[in-house]
Amino acid sequence: MILEKNNYDKNALKNKIVLITGGGGGIGIEASRAFAYMGAHVIIAEIDAGRGKQAQKLINAEDLNGIVDFFQIDITDERQIDKLYKYIMDKYTRLDVLINNAAIVPMGAIDTVSISDWDLSYAVNLRAPVLLTKKFISSMKDTGGIIVFVPSAAPTPYMSAYEIFKTAQMEFCNTLCEEIEGTGIITYSIAPGFVKTDTAVKAVEIVAFSLGITTEEFYKSLEELITDAEIAGVGYAVSVVMAKQYNGKEIMSYQVLMDSGLISNDKEKSNSMQTQVDFDNLSFLFKSLADVFFDQYQNWQKKKLFQKQFIFSDFKKQMGLPAENFKIQIEALQGQINNNEWGNFLDSKKMFIKWRCYYEHQIKLLQGYEKNAAQLRSDTKLLNSWIENLQEIIKIL
Ligand SMILES: NC(=O)c1ccc[n+]([C@@H]2O[C@H](COP(=O)([O-])OP(=O)(O)OC[C@H]3O[C@@H](n4cnc5c(N)ncnc54)[C@H](O)[C@@H]3O)[C@@H](O)[C@H]2O)c1
Repeated sequence: MILEKNNYDKNALKNKIVLITGGGGGIGIEASRAFAYMGAHVIIAEIDAGRGKQAQKLINAEDLNGIVDFFQIDITDERQIDKLYKYIMDKYTRLDVLINNAAIVPMGAIDTVSISDWDLSYAVNLRAPVLLTKKFISSMKDTGGIIVFVPSAAPTPYMSAYEIFKTAQMEFCNTLCEEIEGTGIITYSIAPGFVKTDTAVKAVEIVAFSLGITTEEFYKSLEELITDAEIAGVGYAVSVVMAKQYNGKEIMSYQVLMDSGLISNDKEKSNSMQTQVDFDNLSFLFKSLADVFFDQYQNWQKKKLFQKQFIFSDFKKQMGLPAENFKIQIEALQGQINNNEWGNFLDSKKMFIKWRCYYEHQIKLLQGYEKNAAQLRSDTKLLNSWIENLQEIIKIL
C-alpha cells in the first residue's frame, strides 16, 4: 500500500468515525482500507450486502490500525438513512467524516434513458447526499466534522443522466460551504480521476461505441486523468487529514497525494522541464497576473452589496471555487515559486485554463453592460492582454 511504503502516520485519523457510502468495491473499498490504515472506525454503507461484507472481511483481516464496520443500506430510502443515523449515534455517539461516494451510472443518449433511470440517478447521486448531509449536519455542528462530495470528471455525452446530478452535487457542496462557514464543519468535493472500476469500464464501452470510436481511442483521450483505484481511494483519506486547506474547493485525489508528498510526479516533471522552460518569464507573467487579480479582489470588496454578491457568485460559478479561496491558492503558488518550488505550479494547467475562460466570460459580460464605447474598447484591450498572458502560461504547461 502506498501509505505503508511511505511510512504514512498510522494514527493520522485515530478513532475518527468515518461513514463512506458505496464503500463495498471500486474506489470505495480502497478508501475504506486507507481510512482503516490511519486508525479510523470506518462504516461502509452499501446496498450490496455481499460486496459490503466481503470488503469488511478483507480489510479487517489485514489487521490495520482502524476497523471496518458494515451497514447494509439503500441510500435512496429516507427511513433507512434514519436507521443508519441511529445506528451510528448509538454505537459511536458521533460522526466525524461523511464521504458521499456511492453512485449509479445510467448510460445512454438523453432521448433513450428512461425517466425512471433519471429518477433513480437523482435519488442515488444527488438526493441521498442531500439527505445524509441534512441528517448529520446538526450533530456535526456540535462536534465539528467533514462532509465530502464526489463529483465526476467532466460532462460526457451519453452519460447525462449521471453527470448532471454529479455537477449538482458539487454546486450543493459550494452553497453548503457558504452556509456552514464558522460552524467548524468543513466541506469540499474530491474527484477521484478516471479509475477502471467495473462501472467505469462498462460506461466507457458504451460511450466509445456511441461516439463511433474504439475504447482504446477513448482511453487515450482520458490519458491525463487515468489513475488507479488505490491512488483515488488514498486521496479521499489523505484529503481528510488535510481537510482545512481544501475547504470549499474542488480537488482531485492525485493532487492531494502530490500536496502531501506521497507522489512526486511533478518533481520529475519539473526536473525534466527545468532545462526547457524560461522560469524567469513564467514567474514574471504569473506575478503580473496575480497583481491584477489582487487589485480586482480589493476593488470587488468595495462594491455595493448587490453588485458585490453578483461578482463573487459569478466568480465562483465560473471558477468552481470562491474568490477568497482562489486568492489563497494564488498566494500559495506565489510563495512556492519565490522559493523556486515549481511542482504545484506546473501541475496547475487546469486552473490557468479556467482563469482564462473567466476573463473571456468577463469580456462577454462587458459587451452587455458597458455603454461607453471608449471605455468598452480600453477594458476589452486590458482583458485581452491578461488572456494573452494566461495563454502564454498555458502553452508552457
Ligand atoms: N471510476 C471512475 O473513473 C470515476 C470517475 C469520476 C468519479 N467517480 C465517482 O467515484 C465514486 C466511486 O466510483 P466507482 O467507480 O468506485 O463506483 P462503483 O460502481 O464501483 O461503486 C459504487 C458503489 O455504490 C454502491 N451503491 C449504488 N447504489 C447504492 C445505493 N442505493 N445505496 C448504497 N450503495 C449504493 C454500489 O453497490 C457500489 O458498491 C462514485 O461516486 C463515482 O461517481 C468515479
